[in-house]
Amino acid sequence: MKTYRLQLRFLLPLVATLIAAAWLAAPVFDKLTLRWFSRDLTSRGILVANALSDSVADAVLYDRVQRLKPLFNRAVEDERLFAVGVCSPSGALLTKTDRYPATLDCERAAEVAQEAQPHLALEGGSVHVAVRDVLDRRPRTPGTGAEFGLPLPQLPPAEEPATTSEPLVLARIVLLHDLSFIERRSQDTRRYLIGMIAALGLVISFITVVVAQLSWRGWVNGARALMRGEVLLAPITSSPELAPLAADLRGRLRDLEDEYRRSQGPETEWNAGRLRQLLKTQLSGDQVIVVSNREPYIHEKTETGIVVKRPASGLVTAVEPVMRACSGTWIAHGSGSADRDVVDAADRVAVPPGHDDYWLRRIWLTPEEEQGYYYGFANEGLWPLCHVAHVRPVFRESDWQAYKEVNRRFADAVVAEARGDDPVVLVQDYHFALLPALIREKLPRATILTFWHIPWPNPESFGICPWRREILQGMLGSTILGFHTRYHCKNFIETVDRYLEARIEHEHSTISYREKDTLVESYPISIEWPREDESMPPVAQCRANVVARLALPQQACIAVGIDRFDYTKGILERMNAVERFLEKHPEWVGRFVLVQVAAPTRAALDEYRNFSLRVQELADRINARFGNGTYAPIVLLAKHHEHDAVMELFRAADICLVTSLHDGMNLVCKEFVAARDDQQGVLILSRFAGAAREMPEALIVNPYHVEETADALHRAAVMPPAEQRERMASLRSTVREFNVFRWAGRMLADAGRWRLRARIEERVRRLGAS
Ligand code: G6P
Repeated sequence: MKTYRLQLRFLLPLVATLIAAAWLAAPVFDKLTLRWFSRDLTSRGILVANALSDSVADAVLYDRVQRLKPLFNRAVEDERLFAVGVCSPSGALLTKTDRYPATLDCERAAEVAQEAQPHLALEGGSVHVAVRDVLDRRPRTPGTGAEFGLPLPQLPPAEEPATTSEPLVLARIVLLHDLSFIERRSQDTRRYLIGMIAALGLVISFITVVVAQLSWRGWVNGARALMRGEVLLAPITSSPELAPLAADLRGRLRDLEDEYRRSQGPETEWNAGRLRQLLKTQLSGDQVIVVSNREPYIHEKTETGIVVKRPASGLVTAVEPVMRACSGTWIAHGSGSADRDVVDAADRVAVPPGHDDYWLRRIWLTPEEEQGYYYGFANEGLWPLCHVAHVRPVFRESDWQAYKEVNRRFADAVVAEARGDDPVVLVQDYHFALLPALIREKLPRATILTFWHIPWPNPESFGICPWRREILQGMLGSTILGFHTRYHCKNFIETVDRYLEARIEHEHSTISYREKDTLVESYPISIEWPREDESMPPVAQCRANVVARLALPQQACIAVGIDRFDYTKGILERMNAVERFLEKHPEWVGRFVLVQVAAPTRAALDEYRNFSLRVQELADRINARFGNGTYAPIVLLAKHHEHDAVMELFRAADICLVTSLHDGMNLVCKEFVAARDDQQGVLILSRFAGAAREMPEALIVNPYHVEETADALHRAAVMPPAEQRERMASLRSTVREFNVFRWAGRMLADAGRWRLRARIEERVRRLGAS
């Protein structure tokens, strides 16, 4: 529509010019045609006069002028000849046709014929007057006239002296041509002229429209390429007309970058302040809304009153500090027994308790919804589908319906919470694959950053999901789609390539689907690095506390595992490795303990209940084999531990075991490293956890390989303090630098760039349309 309006801008002046040209050209053309026709009439007059002159000469010479009438009447049958008359040399009208005007005598006719425009106005219209002499062509020597077959008549003496050699004028023919014929012709010509100009105008308009359309498209494509940065970086060779615009944009972006850098000060480490600053500069303080299934604070009823708990969730560990820094609203499922008691009328409660940094908006789910959406589709379908942990995914139609419905309800909540039409929405995890597209439908200008906290499988594995297309379409509503590793991004892009008709630009890692671009990028998640002033109890004290509380041998080598009770965490494999280690190195029996914290999770599912039973059985068996009344090599603590208790365990430990069979990132290993400011302790890390890519200083193991993990345990148990320090110092500097504020900062900075680009694109589009 806009391009047509644009083309009208070209067409209207063109049409106006053509009309003006026709208006100016018409009188000129009139004059020209009049002149042509007058000339035509003159030559016709000469022709007619010549044709009649012999007959007229004979008639005059033989005094038979009246006999000329029939001849003249035949001549005026020609539509253009109006009347004919014959005058004597002395000016007497000798004969004339019927229509010859009575008022036109010979003298007047001769006068009019001399005029520049020899026209005479009559009652029925104008006539063109021409007078032609009829000459005596006979030889001037007097003779008998026999050579003519006729006697020579007596010439009137007054007419001509007999001696002159000039031919005598015998009579004058007066020819009156009808000028209305010329007017008719000229009108016809004018019509043709205007028709021709109109046709020409149409052809030119058509060509203009086509050329404008083509150049508009070229221009828009060029501008889009510009927005994508293709011509911002490369010299402009393909669209030189865009060079000035590109130069302006380059300048503007440079200014913004400078401005941003200035606002950041020298390259500093990422922290809450820097993230807040980025939010202000890059996203102009736009509203941030987080959506996750698990809430960051759970209010529970206890015998002593309402208590606030922090859930065991890597997602919450990572996102909560970001929200404290950014403020805004976090929308999540209200799952605590006292959650309803503490919210306001809009189901909101300010958190963290006592600090009120941001709002927690709770969504209530019915038991059926929770069963279908959370336990069913998310945790029996997508969770095992994405984790290659050899548990079969279960897909039920009723679960899928509940999943769709709950995603819709969360989308409505996002719309209700949004203060403007372009909030920044951070959609978290596999519970909300459909949410990005649902939000995009209602808030097309929103910046939607979706982060998938768990792995993404290869296209074949993902293909077993009956609703694979719907899931992918839902996720592609995102502006940015984040995974922990490049490998998961690659798997996702290949999956889209396999199951959707989308355009993939591998170079920019973008997917265009239904006219909408999504950036697929890796953002390794992390933790908040402890503040300098955040003092932790000394390591020795932590160790003493743990030894006392768990009744461990005084000199025990303590290994810890802190996990949810989940089959993906490799807890069985870890215990098998402990058994093998004690088998291979019996000197450690009585001196080595694995303290395994396993926080209950998704206990309503058979798979999880069975798994915890198997873990319990295995622990009992190993303890029976190597333990005694006072010593047990495995201490299984199957209950949720709050942050401080976990920190105490980390600081008390000599070894931390993370043996996930498949994990998006795993933050336990990063928290262990952050807890060890004494630079001691050894991390054993599964190569199947995303974190293994960032933490090569850990002892990297294949948890499926019992022997290898047992050997790593031994190596860790005997590792000298100096080597521990070296490894731990390096790990700490990595985690400190690549902390969660950097994770969020990179995503928000990309979102900021994306929004800026979208805004410039819109401005260019508006410019083009105006
Ligand atoms: C993983 C998921 C999170 C989830 C957490 C705890 O880390 O990626 O989304 O919150 O497990 O699981 P739960 O089902 O208890 O929320």
